[in-house]
Amino acid sequence: MYRYVGNISDLSHYIIKNFVENKSIAIDGTLGNGYDTDFLSSLFSKVYSFDIQEEACNNYINKNIENVEVINDSHHFFKKYINDKVDCIMYNLGFLPGGDKTITTLHETSLESIKEGLDVLNSGGIMTICIYRGHNEGKIEETCILEYLKNLPKNQFGVMVQSYLNRHNNSPLLVVVEKKQN
Ligand SMILES: C[S@@+](CC[C@H](N)C(=O)[O-])C[C@H]1O[C@@H](n2cnc3c(N)ncnc32)[C@H](O)[C@@H]1O
Repeated sequence: MYRYVGNISDLSHYIIKNFVENKSIAIDGTLGNGYDTDFLSSLFSKVYSFDIQEEACNNYINKNIENVEVINDSHHFFKKYINDKVDCIMYNLGFLPGGDKTITTLHETSLESIKEGLDVLNSGGIMTICIYRGHNEGKIEETCILEYLKNLPKNQFGVMVQSYLNRHNNSPLLVVVEKKQN
């Protein structure tokens, strides 16, 4: 068992827990089975969670978690639902493990959501993006998301990518974006 390099989702949780200071509002851009939303709801006062799959949304709504608002819509529309600045945004891109693999995040809408997310992220806030490159759309997401993020102004954002060097080329990537504190 690995404590650090085991799994990029756990690593994203560790980073958020330890480096996001103000834990008021978080967005889970990809609710899915709700593991990330559970994690965020245990730390943040309010969590907004998006998924385009009604079933995933209803499953979470039935859990009746008080500080979570589930929104059955695409994450690139999140400004329609949230007027506040937020402290954390998580994306676990791709398709639901064990679910319908044809329902996957798409590079255009993922990128649009990320751009809007960086705009509403508070100073000191963190965005984490898990990218799964083992399917075609995931490879396209990797290319266009990294291309966009690498050109962000370094006096406003810090961007890091963690990848496995000794696994296959399609192993997942964790991207962390931190908005600089004023
Ligand atoms: C890898 S899963 C997320 C796993 C989840 N974070 C968890 O903890 O179980 C990706 C999810 O993104 C959802 N999705 C796909 N396109 C989306 C979009 N445009 N907006 C919001 N969710 C989307 C899929 O329906 C799927 O449930």
